[in-house]
Amino acid sequence: MDRTTLGAERAATGAGSETVHVQQASQLAAVTLVAGSASRRLASLVERELGLRFAGCTIERFPDGEVSVRVDEPVRGRDVILLAATSPPVNDHLVELLAIADACRRADAARIVALVPYFGYARSDRRDGRRTPIMASLVADLIERAGIDHVVTTDVHTPALEGFFRIPVDNLTAVPVLAAWLRARASRDAVIVAPDVGALRLANRYATELDLPGAVCPKRRLGGAEVSVGRITGEVAGRPCVIVDDMISTGGTIAESVRALKDAGALPDPLVAATHAVLAPGALDRIAAAGVRAMVVTDSIEPRDAASAPFDPEVVSIAPLLATAIRRLLAGGSLRELA
Ligand code: R5P
Repeated sequence: MDRTTLGAERAATGAGSETVHVQQASQLAAVTLVAGSASRRLASLVERELGLRFAGCTIERFPDGEVSVRVDEPVRGRDVILLAATSPPVNDHLVELLAIADACRRADAARIVALVPYFGYARSDRRDGRRTPIMASLVADLIERAGIDHVVTTDVHTPALEGFFRIPVDNLTAVPVLAAWLRARASRDAVIVAPDVGALRLANRYATELDLPGAVCPKRRLGGAEVSVGRITGEVAGRPCVIVDDMISTGGTIAESVRALKDAGALPDPLVAATHAVLAPGALDRIAAAGVRAMVVTDSIEPRDAASAPFDPEVVSIAPLLATAIRRLLAGGSLRELA
């Protein structure tokens, strides 16, 4: 990644997709953008949107596996926006995020905002039996301890995650971007399906965006990769369906939902939309075997080489969303409209 941060002059010319006004340009010039290794592709798209470059950041591994990071430009007195998904391998990317933040804090950055488009461990938001941790709470503590002043997530699994932090947390949503893709493909009599009760809030958002009715599958998790889905609530018989979720990991939830929809008499070939394509090995095979042929996800997690996958999910970018959030953050504006 190029190490040069372009100044106000280029920003003022509106090199991105939207014209950057002169006043914003001076704010953008006082910021240093840094990306973790999990978000470099997304960073290059945000660069284009903003008309500013990300600072160089050298990230290496010591022979014993420890992480070594160095931000290649001074950050003293500057706002730092750190774009770093904690996607798989989650532990490595989490430690990178913490290490870069610590480096910036020790180099006297004025403020550190972490944009974490995919927040690993968000599903561990309560104790799951005796002698088990609440990882999301632990991660929140680590993030604060590393000196981060503000966290911005996207369609985080548990919006109540905010309660684990004492610093401001904003949760943006990619639903409008994904809904735009669905709008062109979903039929007018389609039903938006939440694959579990936890996805109801998200499904309602899609249903509102697309002006479609909703249904919900009662999911029960039997293990890390195993789920069972009971009787569907809502009218799906004879109708096309759109299954929506915050994330797809093993594909078990989507596969079981497709089966339950089939049992309830829904039309075949449901569309699937999810913000975070975690896509563990075998997930796409599982989803394809269940009968899904069209799926849309975002680039909150960098798309991986899917040469052997049964189909390619369509990827829509959240870079414009993040660029807008950055502009607003630097102007001291609210992110509410993006949430
Ligand atoms: C869980 O509540 C989430 O919203 C997703 O439904 C779940 O994490 C998806 O995981 P998988 O693809 O492994 O079923």
